[in-house]
Amino acid sequence: VIRAFSTSTLHFHAVKTVTVIGSGLMGSGIAQVAAATGHKVTLVDKTKEIVDKAEVSIKKSIDRIVKKKFPDDAKAQLKYSTDVLANLNMSTDVLTAVKSSDLVIEAIVENLDVKRELFGLLDNAAPEKTLFASNTSSIPIKDIASVTKRKDKFGGLHFFNPVPLMKLLEVIRIPETSDETYNLLDAFGKALGKTTVQCKDTPGFIVNRLLVPYMVEAIRLVERGDASPRDVDTAMKLGAGYPMGPFELLDYVGLDTTKFIIDGWSKRDPENPLFKPSPILNKLVDDNKLGLKTGEGFYKYN
Ligand code: CAA
Ligand code: NAD
Repeated sequence: VIRAFSTSTLHFHAVKTVTVIGSGLMGSGIAQVAAATGHKVTLVDKTKEIVDKAEVSIKKSIDRIVKKKFPDDAKAQLKYSTDVLANLNMSTDVLTAVKSSDLVIEAIVENLDVKRELFGLLDNAAPEKTLFASNTSSIPIKDIASVTKRKDKFGGLHFFNPVPLMKLLEVIRIPETSDETYNLLDAFGKALGKTTVQCKDTPGFIVNRLLVPYMVEAIRLVERGDASPRDVDTAMKLGAGYPMGPFELLDYVGLDTTKFIIDGWSKRDPENPLFKPSPILNKLVDDNKLGLKTGEGFYKYN
């Protein structure tokens, strides 16, 4: 009797409806994977033009997935795409979207003030039961959560780019996060097909605390004139077995996002040489050369 009761309670509370805010690189991937695993998803951004662009990129990603999943079965390909898209709704009205959500995942620009302003609004608009999570790469979750009155229902869900392919999810709790919230977030991650790891609310969690200093060290190596970006990339792919070299990865992640991360850390810990700002990175961002998403970063794309 006890087992039957606890199973049904768990089932009752499982996350089913999700609002993802920010339809950029990460938000569109998160929304796609959540929709593909049977969740009802609303993907929100500031303008219709932006969400339309996100919808196109999600469709392209689904096309790549179905071709691989069902190579010679056009009917199965169509069914998969139709099912995923039926679970996905695009919107520019965030306050309405969150009213019927079990979980809100924020994936907007990496800026504490902007994230806090958003969560302040969401806290008033969302039902009491709604869980909040941030996909921040580098900002302490506690600094974002403290603007809300639901710190017990707040956590970090840190995904990796490209979300449909990367198998990891870092699930972060702050001291106030309840066990129930943590378990629901972790179960949601597993329902998306991700392997979850837990990390304390520390700058960069696990992956970025190691990866971002590595990428910025690669830029410093080039700044010193020791080697070219192309040779550094070749070296790390063929000499260390990385799937992408650091400059390919910097362009892939977005140079603006990398700059937000390093600037934020250097403000918090100015003495740490790993977090020192980089002149080349700053110049590229000033010139709006943000990597793959703008067509040029360390490399040119067309
Ligand atoms: N959606 C769907 N399918 C995709 C896709 C996407 N967005 N991107 C690639 N694919 C598919 C391709 O169509 C291809 O399919 P086939 O095998 O049928 O051809 C397959 O995935 C492999 O792609 P590619 O051949 O283009 O390239 P690849 O073999 O090099 O794999 C990769 C691509 C998985 C991205 C790999 O290069 C990789 O792992 N790169 C490193 C990524 C990484 O480190 N990400 C973390 C960044 S840091 C971060 O995200 C955290 C942060 O906070 C900054
Ligand atoms: P992005 O620039 O591709 O997309 C951000 C989107 O948020 C844009 O479409 C923008 O219009 C939208 N936005 C900004 N303010 C908004 C607001 N107030 N309301 C609604 N939408 C708003 O950025 P991204 O790379 O997807 O990064 C998003 C978040 O995910 C950041 O916190 C970043 O640090 C984190 N992250 C990034 C990566 C990566 O590899 N790029 C990986 C993991 C986590």
